[in-house]
Amino acid sequence: MTVINNASLKPFNTFGIDAKAASYCDINSIEALNTILKKQHSNPLFILGGGSNMLLTKDIEALVLHINLKGIEVVSTSKNTVIVKAMAGENWHNFVLWCLQHNYGGIENLSLIPGNIGTAPIQNIGAYGVELKDVFVSCEAVNIKDQSVKTFLKSDCNFGYRESIFKQGIKGEYIITSVNLELTTLNHQLHTDYGVIRNELDTQSITQPTIQDISNAVIAIRQSKLPDPKEIGNSGSFFKNPIITAEEFTELEQNFPEAPSYKISETAIKIPAGWLIEKAGFKGKRFKDYGVHDKQALVLVNYGNATGKEIFELAQLIQKTVKRLFNISIETEVNII
Ligand code: EPU
Repeated sequence: MTVINNASLKPFNTFGIDAKAASYCDINSIEALNTILKKQHSNPLFILGGGSNMLLTKDIEALVLHINLKGIEVVSTSKNTVIVKAMAGENWHNFVLWCLQHNYGGIENLSLIPGNIGTAPIQNIGAYGVELKDVFVSCEAVNIKDQSVKTFLKSDCNFGYRESIFKQGIKGEYIITSVNLELTTLNHQLHTDYGVIRNELDTQSITQPTIQDISNAVIAIRQSKLPDPKEIGNSGSFFKNPIITAEEFTELEQNFPEAPSYKISETAIKIPAGWLIEKAGFKGKRFKDYGVHDKQALVLVNYGNATGKEIFELAQLIQKTVKRLFNISIETEVNII
């Protein structure tokens, strides 16, 4: 176990921000994790997973623990399903590909989402009509203070739209070490209702899609809209889609009858933040080395050497402008550090 002082975090965050960690340690085993947690006691720690949902606006004055635990195994099988346990440091998309190779269904719509297994439950990752909670069984986590191990069942996690208990009540108390998911081996439940998926399958003349076909369609859609973090630094959707009340929606519709919307309930309507940001004139705007992606206004990008502070200031300008034009507040999905 090697601790490196004054380490650059650029390779470890998908925004590619060159912030420094006071010290950094790669964690490859549960034993190493427990040892370092015992030693650290009350010293400040910063837990890093795939680095795909954070914007570093400053250096980290703490020991950064990079959770790099690896391993995937089937822990039980039943007639139509398997429970697969994946360690927190496994890359999410590689895990999806592994599941497809084994013909395990349930997460094909979540293909190509950046990040690691261990951080997937924290924000209940979701795309194209599927959320992690739909296949989640449980996760194991280590308490940072006393190293006790706790299993969180789905019912403990308080999952919501990009939300979970790990972002709320117990934020910063646990390190997720592994996740158990229940996947189908037969009679896969396909989620093809999302318009863009249907269109993509139609374009390819696929009438009876397999889970692999759906994954391929999702990959094609994502690649056409979302920048590859290996080429252009980004953290996927920077903002959450706001959920507004029926009264607020009536007001929006009066001024902008063309506004897209998704009814969640009689009193709650989701508005795509990408539309609000595009309408506010930010789509494709570039300032120095940072800006708003030209194909998806929800994504802020680092073209090379932007600082986290610059990107955060742009995010604040977007929030203020959207509030002024539409009287709607948009919250960041990405964690601002
Ligand atoms: N739109 C625009 N302009 C834009 C982008 C979007 O007008 O530049 C409007 C269009 O009306 C479009 C609608 O927004 O039809 C929805 O766009 P899209 O299907 O791309 O989805 P989204 O709401 O922008 C959400 C998730 C994505 C996920 C997609 C597909 C959030 C914050 N984002 O985006 O998740 O891939 O749905 O399910 O919920 C992520 O979290 O990093 C992420 C990429």
